[in-house]
Amino acid sequence: MQLIQQPLLALTLLPAIIAGLPTSHPPSEELQARKHNWTFDLFHNKHCAGTTVSYSGQGSSGCHSNFENGGAEAFINVNIDTGCKVKLFRDRKCSRHTMIEEIKAKISTKCKPVSRKKTAQSFEE
Ligand SMILES: *[C@@H]1O[C@H](CO)[C@@H](O)[C@H](O)[C@H]1NC(C)=O
Repeated sequence: MQLIQQPLLALTLLPAIIAGLPTSHPPSEELQARKHNWTFDLFHNKHCAGTTVSYSGQGSSGCHSNFENGGAEAFINVNIDTGCKVKLFRDRKCSRHTMIEEIKAKISTKCKPVSRKKTAQSFEE
């Protein structure tokens, strides 16, 4: 009796172990694919004339400052993924209370001047 029962137990356990093995991609790869892509242009001129400085990336990468041409007066939303927001700030440290613009997926892809009399000095996604 004992000799028959043990191999049976081993056979029923085996499929359970196989089912527990990971079958999908590593989690890091999936996380990468879900990161939001963002691309936008900044201009020192309110009419988006002059030098175009393009910024692009994936996901959140912190506060960016030291803009070329000493601050942005206008921007163009080139491609911002749904669910992603780029925030423009008046100071160089992305301080919450100096936020002046949000560039979002739904916003126009035409030239948009930064709020009247303000110049963006930093951005964050
Ligand atoms: C961002 O771009 C990458 C590469 O083109 C793509 O695989 C990924 O799905 C995009 N992310 C989103 C949220 O659409």
